[in-house]
Amino acid sequence: MSREAMLALAEKAAELAVARIESLPGESAWDGEFKEGLERLLLESPPEEGRPAEEVLRRVVDDILPMTTRLDHPRCFGFVPSAPTWPGVVADFLASAWNVNACTWLVASGPSQVELTVLDWFRQWLGYPKSSGGLLTSGGSAAGVDAFVAAREAAGNPERPAVYMSDQSHSVQARAAMIVGVRREAIRLIPTDGDFRLDMAALARAVAEDRAAGLVPMAICANAGAPSTGAIDPLHALADLCRAEGIWLHVDAAYGGFAAVTEKGGELLGGIDRADSIGLDPHKWLFQPYEVGCLLVKDSRALEGPFAMSATVLQDTVWGANHPNLDDRGLQLSRSFRALKIWMSIQTFGMSAFRRAVANGMELAKRAEDYVRESRTLELLTPSSLGIVCMRVNPSGAGLEDGKLDDVNREVLARLFWDDRAFVSSVSLHGRLSLRLCIINHSTTWDDVRETLEAMERFGEDALAA
Ligand SMILES: Cc1ncc(COP(=O)(O)O)c(C=O)c1O
Repeated sequence: MSREAMLALAEKAAELAVARIESLPGESAWDGEFKEGLERLLLESPPEEGRPAEEVLRRVVDDILPMTTRLDHPRCFGFVPSAPTWPGVVADFLASAWNVNACTWLVASGPSQVELTVLDWFRQWLGYPKSSGGLLTSGGSAAGVDAFVAAREAAGNPERPAVYMSDQSHSVQARAAMIVGVRREAIRLIPTDGDFRLDMAALARAVAEDRAAGLVPMAICANAGAPSTGAIDPLHALADLCRAEGIWLHVDAAYGGFAAVTEKGGELLGGIDRADSIGLDPHKWLFQPYEVGCLLVKDSRALEGPFAMSATVLQDTVWGANHPNLDDRGLQLSRSFRALKIWMSIQTFGMSAFRRAVANGMELAKRAEDYVRESRTLELLTPSSLGIVCMRVNPSGAGLEDGKLDDVNREVLARLFWDDRAFVSSVSLHGRLSLRLCIINHSTTWDDVRETLEAMERFGEDALAA
């Protein structure tokens, strides 16, 4: 490409991306299309001859990119949304343009040092010791796999390992355990209490039963922000049990971990520093574009033991002590420069802005809880925890059964989906259908939350009147 053509394409792409961000609040948080429609638009052979780059770009922004849940929309409250900072987006562009492969010190010394710097920030936020280490991953799922590999090695690679987590844990953690060789029936989903926190007595019983049956308890995976309710498992009690039993404690803080940058979040996550490993997702509550997750282990050698391999083709990359090859800590050799987006956005805005943005999510979730407590149409199912709050339409005094309420709330969800700008998802909580708000977008305002709650009330009243 000529210099002029390269610049024209990049300028046009940047213009379109900024225009999208500007128009986002006025649009719906979701758009999508059925397969038939998209096949008509997009299923084709690769062209033999190229087309003008602007024409290709037009198709991308008209036909492909809009067909998504706009996870960065200020009214996107479904699943665990994510709203990246602009410097983070630009960092991904630069990392691609410089074609960085953050595999080894030889190949990427500057990027490796930036990754170590960012990991050191995370270490300090979570209260981990200097001896800890880790790496940036594609996300929380990959962090779980790497963590369980370290746990398996620490347990002496047992033939019949067992892993424990609450029935509220994200399903990716059970999948991660299976990937490292834990049989499905040896993944114990421990019941939770009324607050959706792992029941310690049930856990202790399961561990004892498994030992008696000849299994080796290999790891306990705790929630620091369960995906359904934001619940935080009893981290100190879990750390005590793990120490007494010699079991690896992994904390899945993919969604909730960055609450630690605020004073309140730090208190809520008390005890997280006692874990053997912690999974975090900067592409959630640290406002980064996909994909960037993180695994920290308390003792950095716990990853290099199982993952570092020597290969003749890579023999020149060994620089010795203090010059880690980050590929020695996880499953990828070629790795994108994920640290740059975190580094650039924090350098640009400063930590005070990040603290405010995380605190904003927690405050809005608490305000939503207060609103629901006052509402005559909505019932609070779980109080706000970190940035999540769960509710359902259940007018006080109506005396409706759970089955009927599930139907009404399903209808409310459908109306929100089709008729409102907001995007909300549901969860089942002890068998009851719940509408769930996850409020972690730095640009979400109280009006965004309030108007969504009002829409729930309105649609609920319509569904009940029908
Ligand atoms: C608590 C928790 N753990 C793990 C994951 C999976 O992380 P990822 O999608 O980054 O692999 C999620 C995703 O929402 C999550 O909320």
